[in-house]
Amino acid sequence: MVLISGGGSNLKALLEAASQPGYPARIVAVGADGDAPGLAHASAHHVPSFIVRPTDYSNRAEWGDALAAAIREHAQLAVDDPLLVVSAGFMRILPGGFVQEFSPHLINTHPALLPSFPGANAVRDALAAGATETGVTVHIIDDGVDTGPVLRQLRLSVHPGESEEALHERIKQLERPLLVNAVRDIATGTLALEPNSDLPSSR
Ligand code: GRF
Repeated sequence: MVLISGGGSNLKALLEAASQPGYPARIVAVGADGDAPGLAHASAHHVPSFIVRPTDYSNRAEWGDALAAAIREHAQLAVDDPLLVVSAGFMRILPGGFVQEFSPHLINTHPALLPSFPGANAVRDALAAGATETGVTVHIIDDGVDTGPVLRQLRLSVHPGESEEALHERIKQLERPLLVNAVRDIATGTLALEPNSDLPSSR
């Protein structure tokens, strides 16, 4: 299950990987918080998609419950089928109830070397801080903002005078294979998802 908000290049990479024989995971559905252009990648791969808009709910908790229900409905898994929810450019903080239900089987990709530069403007913040090095992180989502256990990271140098757009594009070139390989390794059990001990027990 992949959640997106934008163009969905990470989603596209996952869909392409999952269509290759031997890739150990499949994308059962794609969810978004609005009319994300990246939903077109789901249709192109004949993968169902759905939108759960925060503006249709009176508070974040209700929206999170509706998103969780849509995931369960679209996943249609047998009892023993493992479900991994991947936030890939999903630009919303997931409510606590949602995190409790899915974490640690809930991961995110973030365009910085966490714990440096959490939040929605990670690339801009790294440039503003004068960082000479940044990167990308795949991590388990916990109840904080970009604070969960790090699963995989890659680093890259910032070019002098580089624009936010150019740097983010170079980060995304590393991010897509990092995410595809992390999902592969989670599916095969090579990469274990250890729950954050601070969270109430989840499944
Ligand atoms: C990615 O860099 C992700 O880490 C960040 O937003 C970007 C989304 O890219 N949160 P895309 O929609 O997958 O192309």
